[in-house]
Amino acid sequence: MLNEMTDKLWQVAKKARSFAYTPYSNYKVGAALLGRSGKIYGGCNVENAAYSPGNCAERTAIFKAVSEGERDFVTILVVTANGGTPCGVCRQVLREFSKDLEVIVATENTIIKSYRLNELLLDGFGPEKLA
Ligand code: THU
Repeated sequence: MLNEMTDKLWQVAKKARSFAYTPYSNYKVGAALLGRSGKIYGGCNVENAAYSPGNCAERTAIFKAVSEGERDFVTILVVTANGGTPCGVCRQVLREFSKDLEVIVATENTIIKSYRLNELLLDGFGPEKLA
């Protein structure tokens, strides 16, 4: 049974995915990030003709959130065509703010799997090491 918040995040991630700008890969990704405040931030991937300036959906969402003052996160839900998991760079960026983040991977039709960020980035390097 899908809980109400997961369903809400799924809807936001799907809507964000519909805005993905992917003329080069055509691999569209949508993310929905739930802040501790209860606010949800959507994000999509935004590609670029020079390739490397492109940004993943997960980082779009987290940068939006941090730039609005939110730094503590509960869940991120990511929608792709085939259940892709967040890339290594996005795992590291998420780790900066929430060691215990729930990461839900989905397609447009199915919620595939839920992880803890620590499983996806085992013993990751974080801000406490620089404190
Ligand atoms: N992409 C994401 O948005 N999130 C990921 O975690 C994996 C990859 C994007 C980057 C690029 O626009 C496209 O998917 C193909 O790599």
